[in-house]
Amino acid sequence: MRVGVLTGGGDCPGLNAVIRAVVRKGVKEYGFEFVGFLDGWRGPLENLTTPLGVDQVRGILPRGGTILKSSRTNPFKIDGGVERIKENLAANGIDALVAIGGEDTLGVATKLADLGVNVVGVPKTIDNDLSGTDFTFGFDTAVNIAMEAIDRLHTTAESHHRVLVVEVMGRHAGWIALHSGIAGGANVVLIPEQPFDITKICDYVERRFQSHYSPIIVVSEGAVPVEGGEMTLVSGEKDAFGHVRLGGIGDRIAKEIEDRTGKEARAVVLGHVQRGGTPTAFDRWLATRFGLHAITAVADKDFGCMVALRGTSIVRVPLIEGTGELKLVRPEEYAEAEVFFG
Ligand code: F6P
Repeated sequence: MRVGVLTGGGDCPGLNAVIRAVVRKGVKEYGFEFVGFLDGWRGPLENLTTPLGVDQVRGILPRGGTILKSSRTNPFKIDGGVERIKENLAANGIDALVAIGGEDTLGVATKLADLGVNVVGVPKTIDNDLSGTDFTFGFDTAVNIAMEAIDRLHTTAESHHRVLVVEVMGRHAGWIALHSGIAGGANVVLIPEQPFDITKICDYVERRFQSHYSPIIVVSEGAVPVEGGEMTLVSGEKDAFGHVRLGGIGDRIAKEIEDRTGKEARAVVLGHVQRGGTPTAFDRWLATRFGLHAITAVADKDFGCMVALRGTSIVRVPLIEGTGELKLVRPEEYAEAEVFFG
């Protein structure tokens, strides 16, 4: 078989580990040949290919980013996009495609599978918001980076009697904020799933100062206030999947706290630092196992599925199970953290 591989959406630690596992097992166990498609769905759309074999995947296990590059191209938003993809796959003699991505990239894969393209999905996102799988790779690395930042920020907050607001990624789901906030001992965690009350946050801040500690607030970029509950945007411009660019909620909260409590408050935006660099051991382990199972699904001709983690087992689920709806933080999970607030 000739197998195409692509990575789409935001880069994520562990993408290279998946590519390596897919190629190494595909060549060794099944004698497959591979073609790398560059820049996510733009690759098969514009026939952007790169050689992909054992030589190309040597040494990439610990490397962040993706050797296949990425984009947020949506072929369903381009006239004749699907036909062009089918033509280019045929022209390259591709029998099957391994698509590694999040809700958008795998959303495209889901629709293409319905249209007869032989595709197997691998779930990735630092946001951990794909359904059907207990975890996506990249999340653990992002949480560890955010936790380390919180650990470091505690010392400045204490030394300067300051409130520090740490803005982390998480458009619709607060997994990074919740896990890093708990691990880093944050005094408040604000997530998109639970609109926040600024008056309550200011009370927590005052209480924290009374106990001679300085507050650290961890907030997801997609968190919204109860009053005037709009997301905070960098710009209203939308990408090909209809997403606006979020950012600025940390500054907004810091300003509000200063105005209301008179305490100095500063925001720190972690941004793409959370997605950069080398994956943790857990993410390398998960990404590698996803890759191994994805290529086995291809060998079994089990197309239209996505590999997923359930407990410690890797299983296959229909793509739609991963992309149909986002996996959000449940209220009771958030409530567990509330005992530490204030
Ligand atoms: O989906 C992953 C993610 O990192 C989100 O948390 C974030 O909102 C988005 O990507 C940012 O995308 P970009 O890097 O394209 O601005």
